[in-house]
Amino acid sequence: EKGPYQHFMQKEIFEQPTVVAQTLRSYLRPLERQVALPQIDFDISAVNRITIVACGTSYYAAMVAKYWFESFARVPVDIDFASEFRYRDPILPAGGLALFISQSGETADTLAALRHCKAAGQTIAVVVNVPTSTMAREADLLLPTHAGPEIGVASTKAFTCQLAVLAALAAHFAVKKGRMSAAEEAEIVAHLMEAPASLNLALEHDDEIKAMAPLIAPARDVLYLGRGPDFPLALEGALKLKEISYIHAEGYAAGEMKHGPIALIDEAVPVIVIAPSGPHFEKTVSNMQEVRARGGKIVLISDAEGLAEAGAGCLATIEMPRVHPLIAPLVYAVPVQLLAYHVACFKGTDVDQPRNLAKSVTVE
Ligand code: F6R
Repeated sequence: EKGPYQHFMQKEIFEQPTVVAQTLRSYLRPLERQVALPQIDFDISAVNRITIVACGTSYYAAMVAKYWFESFARVPVDIDFASEFRYRDPILPAGGLALFISQSGETADTLAALRHCKAAGQTIAVVVNVPTSTMAREADLLLPTHAGPEIGVASTKAFTCQLAVLAALAAHFAVKKGRMSAAEEAEIVAHLMEAPASLNLALEHDDEIKAMAPLIAPARDVLYLGRGPDFPLALEGALKLKEISYIHAEGYAAGEMKHGPIALIDEAVPVIVIAPSGPHFEKTVSNMQEVRARGGKIVLISDAEGLAEAGAGCLATIEMPRVHPLIAPLVYAVPVQLLAYHVACFKGTDVDQPRNLAKSVTVE
């Protein structure tokens, strides 16, 4: 069932253009240039606060979504790890919306948080990949990702499909809240529709990223930096590398590095910088220069324009297509997934079944 691929993870990384397109088909009306959500039985314009709860990679999708909901719809979003959420006695506004993100729909912590919110009278929305899962059954509003079965323990295609659904949902909120004009909606839809083709372009760098694996594999620690909606990608890159290659990695908000982790930097610590052209580029690059000034070895992931400006003197660069900042988190997921994948293959670990991990975590 792996076809020409060596691992399920690799197959699932390469399926992303197809499954993201498949997912977007059920959330967009391309001809009308509109977002199209399933039937929603509550008044979105009355939602004044959203609570998003998830674990692991799904939590990083929540971090990106917070950025989108707040910037498009101006709705404040509270996000938390499911395992923390219940234990802090969260404030849940009357008539609030609680959104849960899960590939499996069975993660015990997320499910417990969902039931807690349900008991507290929240409307329950669920972005889930397994349509027959417990979370799907218990949702008031089911927002399926159409990634198809994800077999590799490390989540890849479910993540980009979650982002696709969340971008459409955030735009829908913005429209309903009167924060987004029809012209702006049309523009967002057009950018989302470019995502599958951009994912394909990102995948074309597979061989090049494979060739970088020997540079990263000997490292004991690797740092990932990103800013704004691309900061969660730094966390995701670090998580992928940790879980399948067993190399210690940390994701940091680029600007936070000088508040501590910069002390780690020396020639032995590769620093992966995620910096698409856009509003955060200059600041991220200046954080990157701070790393370079301390002898840090940099892998810069950016587009042609970004690499022309800041690529000189890097250990390596990975060129992504030029994309709108909205879809950058989807497109830049590909190089961080591929880097983790090839480093793990180079080290010879069990990519699809990393030690100590299960695909679905059903204990709290
Ligand atoms: C990381 C990974 C995990 C899951 C987490 C949540 O690659 O797969 O961090 O993202 O266990 O799982 P779901 O999304 O099924 O609730």
